[in-house]
Amino acid sequence: MHAAVPEYDRDELRQQAETFVRQCYTELDKEAEIEPRLAEIRESIAETGHYEHTFEELEHGARMAWRNSNRCVGRLFWQTLDVIDARDCDDAESVHEALCHHLEYATNGGDIQPTITLFEPMVRGERQVRIWNYQLVRYAGYETDDGVVGDPDELEFTKYCRSRGWEGEGTAFDVLPHVIQIRDREPELFEIPDDLVLEVPIRHPEYDWFEDLDLQWYAVPVVSNMRLEIGGLQYTAAPFNGWYMATEIAARNLADEDRYDMLPAVADGIGLDTSRQRSLWKDEAVVELNRAVLHSFERDGVTIVDHHTAAEQFEAFETREAEAGREVTGDWSWLIPPVSPATTHIFHKTYDNSIETPNFFYQEPPYEDDGQ
Ligand code: ARG
Repeated sequence: MHAAVPEYDRDELRQQAETFVRQCYTELDKEAEIEPRLAEIRESIAETGHYEHTFEELEHGARMAWRNSNRCVGRLFWQTLDVIDARDCDDAESVHEALCHHLEYATNGGDIQPTITLFEPMVRGERQVRIWNYQLVRYAGYETDDGVVGDPDELEFTKYCRSRGWEGEGTAFDVLPHVIQIRDREPELFEIPDDLVLEVPIRHPEYDWFEDLDLQWYAVPVVSNMRLEIGGLQYTAAPFNGWYMATEIAARNLADEDRYDMLPAVADGIGLDTSRQRSLWKDEAVVELNRAVLHSFERDGVTIVDHHTAAEQFEAFETREAEAGREVTGDWSWLIPPVSPATTHIFHKTYDNSIETPNFFYQEPPYEDDGQ
């Protein structure tokens, strides 16, 4: 799962850079620039063991990485990714500022803009920047005598933040601070200004009691713990976001028994018979929770997609890729939605799960983790 960062020697780095530059410039219709650019890169690697991407390479490389993300059903929009170059941030404070800018820019008042911010990549095997958060916005989880309060998935990270002096309010939805590490220094913690975190209270289009469950979720999922590899360079801090598909929140984050576990409360509210599996109370509750999330985001003017539309968009992506003469790779078990999977075309096909680069990769968790 957490593959170690590949350590390329100079020959391998040159090889990786060459493959990337050829593909990148060919896709951008700039074939004439390939050989001069490769000469420049070869010289840089020979002299320094390293090279730097131009903004254009960075931009197209990041978009290719999204296109190659086998687990992502939202890839139709890969060309709309906005790339922010933050490679000049050289301390934790300036990285945090760039993360705040990312949140504001991507949130865009609710009209969510797919965005990636790129920090200094590894240089000759030395990591420059690492963000310890799984996402730029996530809710803390606390172990209490009455069980977990908040997100059980963040117990370990919350423990770490508290060991560093951070104190949350102890609600079910406390936004965790940014934890930023520069090279091998001790990481620094930064509280996120409230006004940068757009959140949506969850209510139901018909059931008025739903809002009394006091559920909410944040608007923008910005994955911040993955490594982006482009042309042999390792961007270990490369937070990126799209917008939510409702099932991520309603069928997983709020529904999983080891997350917010809300299906029994929703079923009770509706008045379903939870004493018998065959009443299908879980199924009805999960669907109503999905309707509530879609309704609430829509009412608040925050971008969100339902799983049927997302599957149709993925089908359009498959068609477009075929037209461009490229094979679509994919991870079936992630592409199917967790609700009504067989109602989408994805369920009825198979996908080749080969890994192409550029791509995003998992990294070792930097703090004590319980293995999830
Ligand atoms: N599944 C994750 C979550 O629920 C988010 C992963 C990225 N999702 C996305 N739509 N870009 O927070």
